[in-house]
Amino acid sequence: MGEGFYVAGTLLDMNRQFGASSEQRDLLRFLTCGSVDDGKSTLIGRLLFEQKLVLDDQMAALARDTRKYRPDDEIDYALLVDGLEAEREQGITIDVAYRYFATPKRSFMVADTPGHEQYTRNMVTGASNAELAVLLVDARKGLTAQTCRHANVVSLLGIRHVVLAVNKIDLVDFNEKGFAAIRDRFSALAEPLNFKSIVAVPISARHGDNVSTRSERTPWYNGPTLLAFLENIEVSDERAAAAFRMPVQAVSRPHANFRGYSGTIASGKLRRGDEVAIAPSLRTTRIERILVGADELDEAFAGDAVTVTLRDEVDVSRGDVLAPPRGLPHIGAQFTAHLIWMGEEHLLPGRAYVLKLATRSIGASVTEIKYRIDVETLAHTAARTLEMNEIGLCNIAVSQPIVFDPYSENHTTGAFILIDRTSNATVAAGMILHGLNRAETVRPQALSVTKTERIRLKGHSPALVWFTGLSGAGKSTIANALEARLNAMGVHTLLLDGDNVRGRLNKDLGFTDVDRVENIRRVGEVARLMLDGGLIVLCAFISPFTAERRMVREMVDEGEFLEVFVDAPLELCIARDPKGLYRRALAGEIRNFTGIDQIYEPPAAPEVVLQSGSGTPGELADFVIAELERRGIIGPQP
Ligand code: ADX
Repeated sequence: MGEGFYVAGTLLDMNRQFGASSEQRDLLRFLTCGSVDDGKSTLIGRLLFEQKLVLDDQMAALARDTRKYRPDDEIDYALLVDGLEAEREQGITIDVAYRYFATPKRSFMVADTPGHEQYTRNMVTGASNAELAVLLVDARKGLTAQTCRHANVVSLLGIRHVVLAVNKIDLVDFNEKGFAAIRDRFSALAEPLNFKSIVAVPISARHGDNVSTRSERTPWYNGPTLLAFLENIEVSDERAAAAFRMPVQAVSRPHANFRGYSGTIASGKLRRGDEVAIAPSLRTTRIERILVGADELDEAFAGDAVTVTLRDEVDVSRGDVLAPPRGLPHIGAQFTAHLIWMGEEHLLPGRAYVLKLATRSIGASVTEIKYRIDVETLAHTAARTLEMNEIGLCNIAVSQPIVFDPYSENHTTGAFILIDRTSNATVAAGMILHGLNRAETVRPQALSVTKTERIRLKGHSPALVWFTGLSGAGKSTIANALEARLNAMGVHTLLLDGDNVRGRLNKDLGFTDVDRVENIRRVGEVARLMLDGGLIVLCAFISPFTAERRMVREMVDEGEFLEVFVDAPLELCIARDPKGLYRRALAGEIRNFTGIDQIYEPPAAPEVVLQSGSGTPGELADFVIAELERRGIIGPQP
């Protein structure tokens, strides 16, 4: 997920100084989460301030800012952190900001993520590679639904150490009982979440109690200060311990006798002379040289960006993964994964998204939602979609076998994002649970009767003529007229019509967007089979979404797909209303009716546009015949 990171308002850019290589054993990466008012930014500001990282002129600016935004307050440490003007004015933090600070004992990298509900996505971004999470709660309010949600997401993201910072302890008069109650409730709640360590610390971020200096106002508390705890906790660097993986980012060939493969080592380490396999081809060779800029190294570690050369001339491309021959990753086209949905629009199973895993980008779809996880109770519920911030366990299929690991074994090769192909927005983050070897043992069977033979036999080429348009536009009528004419010409056809297919093959589907996507996916697959049989397939479906029409187009061979847009204004369709459905939809008796309470996305570049009502169905069908002839699909064959 590294590529999608957004870094905002970093106060002190010490990124260079604290390079992220796992050789840097004194670096602790942690994440902070809490609700808007829990005082998270104040806490981070204080940690930075007390480590003397706030320079004098920044202090002056801070005093000015405090007067500007919160006139009655003393210095507000949150303003140190809430670097963006907009955030300051709203009093909330948006997006993830990474901060760096150090004590004589350790360096720290903290991801500050916002607390309000719709920003689970930022937490996911911030959590990658974090070893520990600080969960903030307000001592006056105790645990909230938000705390449970954060604890669950933190656990799912594979973070094994949690600190519960019970903040604003001054506002409950340093009450020990209240603190103990929150601590105990949290332990009970976190029981099923598999944390290795949970520690609760009573703090006041505003006044500094137990942040880096022990408070005299909590004599009953014997534990360490928050900072002392962060300085001393032992976290094993799982990246260093995991098997070697290096996803190839780029192949460089500056001149004929140098071929280098660049990428960041995701896990494990690499030595000159090591034997490596190139997944997915699984060809093996040895590492010849390891280069970082102009320097040549003997070994390199997780987090290092390197260029390697290989002893043999093997085929390696971007997206391949270098791995040890004993300790190979999985290679497959289907897997089960936890998905955290982040899209504004809900998940559409069956829709083609782009999946990005390490350096690989590939077409993917969700083939099944096994269940949704209630992040407050952890209960599993049946679901047909996932809304923003919802988490589910899903089966995913990619269009070709890819290289991956379970997320529990590797946070880089086990994590992916899904991107919407139209908007380019990141719509989900995923963590792989395990591979599915459903299709792995299935090998396509070579067939002896080829496309050329079928064309010779039939006297025409196969094609898919796809009619799209509103209900009542005339798709079925024109398609029917077209089939009759083609039939008379001796052309072999098959007509798949929405209403007919929905009565049989797709009788389990309704008209929600989720069901419409599945309707078109199945019809696309059936049409493809018929195309293999050499037929000219006519499909008449509203098919309201661009994404699925494009998916079907990409399912068949280049030039075989003809999109026919039957263009009719909505008012005309309502006036025609051949089945009386518009009347019922307008009366609210039918839900999800295209054009009424569900969208229709007209095609941007259809092969044929037919203006509904501008001619008889037969005349309009003739335009399609002309187009088929122009493309050489019917008529004299080569
Ligand atoms: S599609 O959107 O999934 O492509 P399809 O073409 O299969 O739709 O089915 C549309 C037909 O179903 C319409 O011609 C109409 O007769 C019927 N229908 C019933 N309910 C609806 C609805 N809510 N929206 C659209 N069509 C509906």
